[in-house]
Amino acid sequence: MKTQPPKRHWLGSLGILRFRRPELRPAQRRLRRGVSVADLRAIARRRLPGGVFDYIDGGAEDELTLESNLEAYRRVQFRPRVLRDVGEVDISSSLLGKPLSMPLVLAPTGFTRIADPAGELAVARSAGRAGLPYTLSTLGTRSIEEVAATGSARLWFQVYVWRDRQLVADMVARAAESGYEALCLTVDTAVLGKRERDVRRGFTLPPKLGLSTIFDGMVHPGWTWQFLRSEPIVFANVAGQAVGDGSDAISLAEYVGRQFDPGLSWKDVEWLRSRWNGPIVLKGIQTIEDAKLAADEGIEAIALSNHGGRQLDSAPAPLDLLPGVADAVAGRTEIICDGGVRRGSDIVKALALGATACMAGRAYLYGLGAAGEAGVDHVLDLLASDMRRTMALIGCRTVGDIGRDYVSEDPRYRPIR
Ligand SMILES: Cc1cc2nc3c(=O)[nH]c(=O)nc-3n(C[C@H](O)[C@H](O)[C@H](O)COP(=O)(O)O)c2cc1C
Repeated sequence: MKTQPPKRHWLGSLGILRFRRPELRPAQRRLRRGVSVADLRAIARRRLPGGVFDYIDGGAEDELTLESNLEAYRRVQFRPRVLRDVGEVDISSSLLGKPLSMPLVLAPTGFTRIADPAGELAVARSAGRAGLPYTLSTLGTRSIEEVAATGSARLWFQVYVWRDRQLVADMVARAAESGYEALCLTVDTAVLGKRERDVRRGFTLPPKLGLSTIFDGMVHPGWTWQFLRSEPIVFANVAGQAVGDGSDAISLAEYVGRQFDPGLSWKDVEWLRSRWNGPIVLKGIQTIEDAKLAADEGIEAIALSNHGGRQLDSAPAPLDLLPGVADAVAGRTEIICDGGVRRGSDIVKALALGATACMAGRAYLYGLGAAGEAGVDHVLDLLASDMRRTMALIGCRTVGDIGRDYVSEDPRYRPIR
């Protein structure tokens, strides 16, 4: 078959210029500018009303934890090995006895539909296409059953412990019934962190209409149009329950203060175990001592996490905890490193320091806010291609090859032992 020469613009035929075909689909057009997660964050920042962007992007108090989660990754340097034949790089891995296309789990994020009306359904579908598990939050804006009906990803269900234990028992039973494979119990939220960006803006869930929100909406017409056309955003897992489903504007701090039990203890972990047959992931472990206790309890996986810097300010960065925790419990429980992942190279660093996998929240929310479901696909593609490239550049062909030898004892890195 004769191949046609590529078409050129008349200026291009001068041999100097080639013109890109114009992209008519707005989301795809935005994604062309999204070369990194940082770019997608910038696009989401322009596209979302300020209060919505800050709800996603912000952290507690002075945001020291938020910053140190990111900084910890910057302080780790690679020790690249060369001449290693990296013609074929395989980023696949496994977690809780099942395969992963790369060592990453999508973290639970409450109120996801605030970023895009498709919300949790979009993220679950995207995770499914990428071959990754997705964790639905207790405070999801799509229900356990709706997310399961996408039939796509391996699903985990994140549990907050409500004062009303029956409500928790019912949700756990619904997750089992819907085929969720793991429970992820978040243990760093005895009370809600003080997220000062939200407090300053008087941010409520759902956003309350006032002069400033109306103005914010007018200058972000794309988001506002979608928001007004879609059904109201509520805490779908408790819709119709006495605890309130968030359909009356309420601050998250007020809701959590009223409904969640600060009396949560190891006894509740046992109670949860008695109600659930599958694996349990404890999310929010922040010391080596608690990691050891979790391993002693027979917990299948721990997520070293400070809730992405949204809870305690001045908490340790999960990456700094990794070597000490891995020395103490590796082989007894799997270790997930959660918080601050913005690049595939971050995942490689965490694996080198002892993680089995990473979790990421904001990275996919920036993609969702920037361009909906296609934006989440784009972020997951970026992380995978970053990871492949980094492994090739440090001389690792498989995830199993990555170990501490591949990162340097940079004096600025502050491992906690
Ligand atoms: C907007 C938003 C909502 C979140 N909601 C929850 C939640 O409902 N339950 C939970 O366990 N963690 C929640 N998290 C924390 C994430 O699960 C995860 O720990 C955090 O995003 C990791 O940090 P990263 O955003 O830097 O990846 C939330 C995070 C964000 C950004």
